Amino acid sequence: MHNPALQACGIDAQYVRVQVPIGQVQAAFSLFQKQNFLGVNITIPHKFEALNAVDVLDPLASQLGAVNTLAIRKGKLFGYNTDGPGFLRSVQEAFAADVKDLRILVIGAGGGAGRAVAVQSVLAGCKNLLLANRTESKLQPLLAELHQRSHGGVTLRTCSLDAQHLAQHLPEIDLIVNATSLGMKAEDSALLPAGCLESRHLVYDMVYRANEPTKLMQQAKAVGAKQADGMCLLLHQGAISFEHWFDQPAPIEAMRAGLLAA
Ligand SMILES: NC(=O)c1ccc[n+]([C@@H]2O[C@H](COP(=O)([O-])OP(=O)(O)OC[C@H]3O[C@@H](n4cnc5c(N)ncnc54)[C@H](OP(=O)(O)O)[C@@H]3O)[C@@H](O)[C@H]2O)c1
Repeated sequence: MHNPALQACGIDAQYVRVQVPIGQVQAAFSLFQKQNFLGVNITIPHKFEALNAVDVLDPLASQLGAVNTLAIRKGKLFGYNTDGPGFLRSVQEAFAADVKDLRILVIGAGGGAGRAVAVQSVLAGCKNLLLANRTESKLQPLLAELHQRSHGGVTLRTCSLDAQHLAQHLPEIDLIVNATSLGMKAEDSALLPAGCLESRHLVYDMVYRANEPTKLMQQAKAVGAKQADGMCLLLHQGAISFEHWFDQPAPIEAMRAGLLAA
């Protein structure tokens, strides 16, 4: 999506993929700097290591605990997180809704992506957040952090992933976010028990699969619920990276077309 964006804006640059071994993020950043790179996207598993490898850390990246975008300006390394704001924009685009007005369930809140969604939602003014994770003990530090950030202004609850608990809580939820890796493989079991989705639910699956929709997307479609998959997040986090690098609006339709073509 970035090469079509560069082309659409007439920018004489190229987006390339570089594999970096774990533990070598700082060394890689120095090399990019020397080679006159303008910016970098950082993905799994380097987003946490990148936090400590920049000269200037954006406050939001610090709050979300991960850097996925580097901008190199006058030899200085600036670290940003565009996953969180990308989530907000994609919810707005897919559902014409604002996170602050929704009661949100984040499944997989103990993982990196789920944590970012939960923290970003609270920062964006969400008043009602329900967190679930297979390993429930991972939710406790996040709960404490969210309580601190929201100064008690948010109703924060946890629920277990068993069918009975989920079915009990889903009537009080508007937006359901899957931030687990469940759904990446066709043979993965369904995330939600059958029969608990309603047509009024907004269903957001961070997972994306090129060939066929995930089971969660299929369940949502079957009941007539609005859906968004991970492609939407991929697009918008990329667009915000582009804006950091070039200080101009991203050519979103060129990027969307590039993404779909890829
Ligand atoms: N669309 C995008 O641009 C975008 C961006 C970021 C992430 N993602 C997607 O989001 C997902 C999570 O990424 P991440 O970086 O957060 O990974 P992560 O840090 O490894 O977290 C994985 C999460 O999935 C849960 N999980 C794994 N297997 C499970 C299962 N069988 N049943 C229930 N829960 C299970 C884990 O629970 P435990 O804590 O119990 O292990 C944990 O909460 C991935 O599918 C990734 O592709 C998409």
